[in-house]
Amino acid sequence: MLYFAVKYLHVVGAAVLLGTGAGIAFFMLVAHLRGDVRVIAGVAGIVVLADFIFTATAVLLQPVTGVWLAWNSGYSLWEGWIALSIALYIITGMFWLPVVWMQLRMRDLAVEALVHDAPLPALYHRLFWIWFAFGFPAFASVAVIFWLMIARPAIAVLGSS
Ligand code: HEM
Repeated sequence: MLYFAVKYLHVVGAAVLLGTGAGIAFFMLVAHLRGDVRVIAGVAGIVVLADFIFTATAVLLQPVTGVWLAWNSGYSLWEGWIALSIALYIITGMFWLPVVWMQLRMRDLAVEALVHDAPLPALYHRLFWIWFAFGFPAFASVAVIFWLMIARPAIAVLGSS
């Protein structure tokens, strides 16, 4: 019973990671394309909040529930699909952390532009395109982890038996 409760949390966490990631990217992109500083400032503020409430919680809980599941179902963390997932998870984090920082900066720059009734600065546009580019590897890694978790393919990893 406990095992399935933790597995339930793990799968819900996975859905939150993929769903919030895709949702945030979509809302930020559409707000940007609208080009309205007020909309961009508002949406960026909500996106930052959503990332802290939903994504950050799931990001922290996912490895905890995952490692717990592995230990309690007899999988080694060196099992190919698990080891590769952990590596991809680290890669996701390396792209996601700067993304969070960029979202904060873009929000602040948009609010500043709004307050001073000025156009968005060049720095905002630069950050937006870097943010956009970073989203692809982060999202692709999570999508691949999803597949690895479901298919559990036999992958040989150095040190595994
Ligand atoms: C980071 C360390 C992680 C570890 C150690 C881990 C470990 C595991 C283990 C051992 C299972 C099998 C549970 C069972 O068969 O009862 C599992 C299932 C699952 N994991 Fe992970 N996981 C991790 C991260 C993730 C991430 C980041 C996602 C997706 C974003 C994810 C999505 C899933 C899904 C959807 C299942 C259910 C698959 C199924 O039952 O067909 N996991 N995980």
